[in-house]
Amino acid sequence: MPLSFKHLTSTKQLTRADTDAILAKAAEMEGTMAKGGSDLLAGKILAALFYEASTRTRLSFEAAMLRLGGQVITADGFQFSSLYKGESIEDTMRMVGQYADIIAMRHPEQGSADRAAAVSLVPFINAGDGPGQHPTQALLDLFTIQKERRTIDGLKIAMVGDLRYGRTVHSLSFLLGLYNNLSFTFVAPKELTMPEKVTSFLAEKKLPFVEIDRLEPALECDVLYMTRIQQERFADHSEYERLKNVYTLTAKHLQGKKATVMHPLPRVGEIATDVDSLPSAAYFRQARNGVPVRMALLALLLGF
Ligand code: CP
Repeated sequence: MPLSFKHLTSTKQLTRADTDAILAKAAEMEGTMAKGGSDLLAGKILAALFYEASTRTRLSFEAAMLRLGGQVITADGFQFSSLYKGESIEDTMRMVGQYADIIAMRHPEQGSADRAAAVSLVPFINAGDGPGQHPTQALLDLFTIQKERRTIDGLKIAMVGDLRYGRTVHSLSFLLGLYNNLSFTFVAPKELTMPEKVTSFLAEKKLPFVEIDRLEPALECDVLYMTRIQQERFADHSEYERLKNVYTLTAKHLQGKKATVMHPLPRVGEIATDVDSLPSAAYFRQARNGVPVRMALLALLLGF
């Protein structure tokens, strides 16, 4: 079934039929990956425009396109593009759409993805717009939850860290609003609490949530989604220094707990390395899931 959208800028666009189709296609793409890939997208070009730092999103988009037999053109860093000379996002998009069949863009400004999609001639995917949204991360998070927990409905989800500027937790919360009987615990210092746009959305969906500032009471959950305190979002560096080590999850915290530990990565100090060897530490498997999920999205948006 085709997706309900041509461009993906926000998880608020997605319907349950969309997520069902993407998760099913991603499972199929895991089989394709196991065979080394296919030529489904041979002759197609992805433009990967990364105007803000990225390792996972960029490389997994590129790997996804290459695994499907397509090709990739890239632009990275403002200083190497005509945005640096003052070209608008809109004009850049109008050009890139004449060189590529599909575009993925990361940009530091919230709202840049909507501006790009509004003029894009070809399918456009938001690969992260500042503190706004990161919809493909949320889709791979959803895929990971389904694989790790065998269900999405009914789970107790805890989100920890920078919930104010953390685009991954915003996007994932909106996406989980498509499912039933979930409950949320949001753990953040008072300076970094979940924005009202998310909490009012959950209230509308009648999905219960509590907001606390200590990690320990949140550990009795099914999914513990840790996030980084993001240095790049603070105007005042001393504020970052004060908050950067507010939460550190250790293996001791998880003794006797059943929580699956997730993190969009990169981590800085919020998950101690002694957690890495626990079976419940899912964050590196989560990062790998970015490839089949992005393969699925590229294929579906290109009509395959
Ligand atoms: N999770 C994520 O977006 O990682 P990158 O910033 O490395 O792309």
